Amino acid sequence: MANESKLLPAIIAHCKEYGFIFPSSEIYDGLQAVYDYGQMGSELKKNIKDHWWRSMTQLQENIVGLDAAIFMHPTTWKASGHVDNFNDPMIDNKDSNKRYRVDHLIEAHADQLKETGKTAEADQLIADMEALLGKDDFAGLKSLIETNKVSCSISGTCNWTDIRQFNLMFATEFGSTEGEDNKVYLRPETAQGIFVNFLNVQKTGRMKVPFGIAQVGKAFRNEIVARQFIFRMREFEQMEMQFFVRPGTQKEWYEYWKEARLKWHLALGLPVDKYRYHDHVKLAHYADAACDIEFAFPMGFKELEGIHSRTDFDLKQHQEYSKKKQQYFDNDVDPATGKPYGNYIPYVIETSIGLDRMFLAVISHAYEEQDLSTEEKQDSRVVLKLPPVLAPIKMAVLPLNKKDGLPEIADAILADCRPHFRCFYEEKDSIGKRYRRMDALGTPFCVTVDYQTKEDNTVTIRHRDSMEQERVPISALRSIVQQAITI
Ligand code: GAP
Repeated sequence: MANESKLLPAIIAHCKEYGFIFPSSEIYDGLQAVYDYGQMGSELKKNIKDHWWRSMTQLQENIVGLDAAIFMHPTTWKASGHVDNFNDPMIDNKDSNKRYRVDHLIEAHADQLKETGKTAEADQLIADMEALLGKDDFAGLKSLIETNKVSCSISGTCNWTDIRQFNLMFATEFGSTEGEDNKVYLRPETAQGIFVNFLNVQKTGRMKVPFGIAQVGKAFRNEIVARQFIFRMREFEQMEMQFFVRPGTQKEWYEYWKEARLKWHLALGLPVDKYRYHDHVKLAHYADAACDIEFAFPMGFKELEGIHSRTDFDLKQHQEYSKKKQQYFDNDVDPATGKPYGNYIPYVIETSIGLDRMFLAVISHAYEEQDLSTEEKQDSRVVLKLPPVLAPIKMAVLPLNKKDGLPEIADAILADCRPHFRCFYEEKDSIGKRYRRMDALGTPFCVTVDYQTKEDNTVTIRHRDSMEQERVPISALRSIVQQAITI
């Protein structure tokens, strides 16, 4: 197994080699922190998304879906606080007037150090920067820049202003004329699309509190520290659910969703020791409780999902900015007063998970380099032990030979199974090579059609993780695979 520092580069290389993830517009040398999902990656990503959607909508009594637009009225972001508070630090050189993002400036200096062989110094500088950024310690960052004599590439001086904030939202022009009035943002979270549609969905769906609205979609952030592959991207996808509850019940619903979301992860077969909760001590101004579900990524335990008790902050803000009431009438009787609860703005529990981050969690746990050498011969394989429900290909059908009627039998198996789950056909190369390739793609089952099949309608089915093979009737294949991919 690749050790920790080598694991992430090994996964990145594997993702590229097997068509999971490519750098965006790679022929032009890529675009930082933007990635494209290839033929295998798009399947895996879609399977994660479908699995989340099914668990959070179809299997719930009181959660419905939404697909809101990426562009929203600009006042949305004023009301949500993103225009004023969604920032990262930047600094100006007083002699050249050139403005730098603090991380870019320090990283460029670290690169120069590396070029002159001072790798340890460069690594220390980056580590110090990340620690200070994590604490929003701008005075500390400025003194880091000064003590390391980080200079402006134009003036060559170290004459810096104080560090100021830089908004993370991407802005663009709406319509054909330029100007502040036409400025719109690419949404930095999907949640606001849910909030502004709260009453639309509640009324048309005749939803009764407590109920939830779930959404999967793109979000965009001009991230300051955009590294670590798909962990922190500038264009990414979120799977979010806002659960609207009666004021005063938010604490119990927060605990409920905290537990329910961890169970969702564990039900995929991901081990409990790879997860931990991180309760927020410093709460955002709109939250009365918040925690992260952290995962043991190759670079250590980091946030995978957030559970936030957002109070009535967002709906209240939208009510104030839109001048439209965001209230719900609750006609259930309050036992304390004997009267209906009446009108109120619901409180909200949010569950928010990054789809790309979940992809990285799944693939980094699944990735294994195995030494299979025996006394007779050296052998090894890379296997992706993906949960079968998420695997891009569920079953590969491999005729032992390209002739003698074996491909025709394989075709019949495919015709039977393709409508139910994704299959793959391969007749080139030795059977051993074909198995290795399927292991590297995470295919849980390989079915081999051989000469005995012609006599008794049986095939061998090989299990990816154990590499064990068993002989089964062709008629049993579909249900074996379907059982394995159902959770
Ligand atoms: N609506 C709440 C919200 O957006 P967040 O903690 O900023 O909260 C939620 O983001 C989740 O979105 C994170 O837990 C993470 O999984 C994912 N996420 C956030 N920024 C990301 C980025 N730049 N790249 C990839 N995923 C990101």
